Amino acid sequence: MRAARSLFTLFSMLAYSILLAATGSIASARPSSLGHNKILRSTDVELPSSALRMDPRACTNAVANPSFESSDLSPWTCSATGSWASRDVVLAPTLPSRHSGAYIFHGHSNSTNASTITLSQININIPAGRKIDCSAWVYAGGDMGEQGKVGFDVFLDGAWCGALGVQADSGDAERWQKIGKEMVVQGDVHILAIVVMVDAMGEMGAGIEVGVDDVWVGWC
Ligand SMILES: *[C@@H]1O[C@H](CO)[C@@H](O)[C@H](O)[C@H]1NC(C)=O
Ligand SMILES: *[C@@H]1O[C@H](CO)[C@@H](O)[C@H](O)[C@H]1NC(C)=O
Repeated sequence: MRAARSLFTLFSMLAYSILLAATGSIASARPSSLGHNKILRSTDVELPSSALRMDPRACTNAVANPSFESSDLSPWTCSATGSWASRDVVLAPTLPSRHSGAYIFHGHSNSTNASTITLSQININIPAGRKIDCSAWVYAGGDMGEQGKVGFDVFLDGAWCGALGVQADSGDAERWQKIGKEMVVQGDVHILAIVVMVDAMGEMGAGIEVGVDDVWVGWC
């Protein structure tokens, strides 16, 4: 019994140290705060969605203007192919708004066929070897016609970190979804690109709408 308990204590302390190292809060370490909650949270730290649940002050997002809350695009760049009636940072609720703040990136395609938007940001500083979450919230909807489809791809330094395909007739349209994953970066300076491809599949008058918000490339 005794041996088992001290083994458990040792394990608890180990788990707790990992938690402290992960949250960078070594300075406030106190053995008296050891407990089941802390141990459970040490596993949470490794989940990709942890960034959203944890205290935002303990987290770092390396992306500038990640939720477009400055009300303009800078320092993102937006390039497009095909035909877009509009593509810009707009005040929600043009689409159902995302949870954070007032602005989103919004595109409205008026093409009968394939059109793309590439949002990119350069000079993102993250030290080599750091494990990060790379993610974005995306939306596809509007008038997608009978067979319209939208694809989203997120790349960090050319490595794929998330994708989603939305079809007109699927339950995936008309709602915000988070795409992304955890990865380890190489090099200290990074490029992020979010590629949106829409295709009304030949249908005239379809006006596919897309949204991007709450981009995250960071750690806690
Ligand atoms: C799409 O919208 C743009 C901007 O309003 C306009 O210049 C263009 O003619 C439109 N194209 C089509 C096919 O409606
Ligand atoms: C694609 O859509 C644009 C705008 O609606 C149109 O001008 C063009 O002819 C279309 N191209 C093809 C191959 O259908």
